[in-house]
Amino acid sequence: MKILVINGPNLNMLGIREPDIYGRTTYADLCSLILEHALKTGAEVELYQSNHEGDLVDKIQEAYFNQVDGIVINPGAYTHTSVAILDAIKAVQIPAVEVHISDVDAREEFRQLSYIRPYCRATISGRGVQGYLDAIDLLSEDQ
Ligand code: DQA
Repeated sequence: MKILVINGPNLNMLGIREPDIYGRTTYADLCSLILEHALKTGAEVELYQSNHEGDLVDKIQEAYFNQVDGIVINPGAYTHTSVAILDAIKAVQIPAVEVHISDVDAREEFRQLSYIRPYCRATISGRGVQGYLDAIDLLSEDQ
C-alpha cells in the first residue's frame, strides 16, 4: 500500500514553533517516527512538506498519477482557507485522513472550520504526532 503524508505550511518548524501547542518533536523526528511505523505496518510511505499552497495542490494531483492508495494530510493553516486543496482532494478521489497535532476544535473559532474535513475518511485532531501514525493505521485497515 502506497501512502503519501503531506504537511503544509510551518510544519517544517515543528519542535521550534509554539512547543506548548505543537510539542517538541521536530519535523525530522516526525519523519523518522512515520517511516519506522510504516516499516512495521508494511506500508510504503512518501513524506512531503511545503509552505506553498500550489505546491501542495501539485503534490496531491501527482498522487493520482503515481497510483497512491491513501493520503494523510495536515494542511496547517490552509485547512481553514484553501478551497484549492479541497478541490484537489476531491479531484483525485484518493482516501484521505486529515490530521492536526493540536485539538483545533478547542482553539480559536477560525481554526474550527476545515474545508477538507467533509471529504476525508476521518479527522484526527489533538493526539500530537501520534495522530499521523493512527492515520496510517486507519488507511491500512481500509485496504
Ligand atoms: C495545525 C492547526 C492549524 O490551525 C495550524 O494553522 C497549523 C497546525 C495542527 O497540526 O494542529 O499550522 O494544522
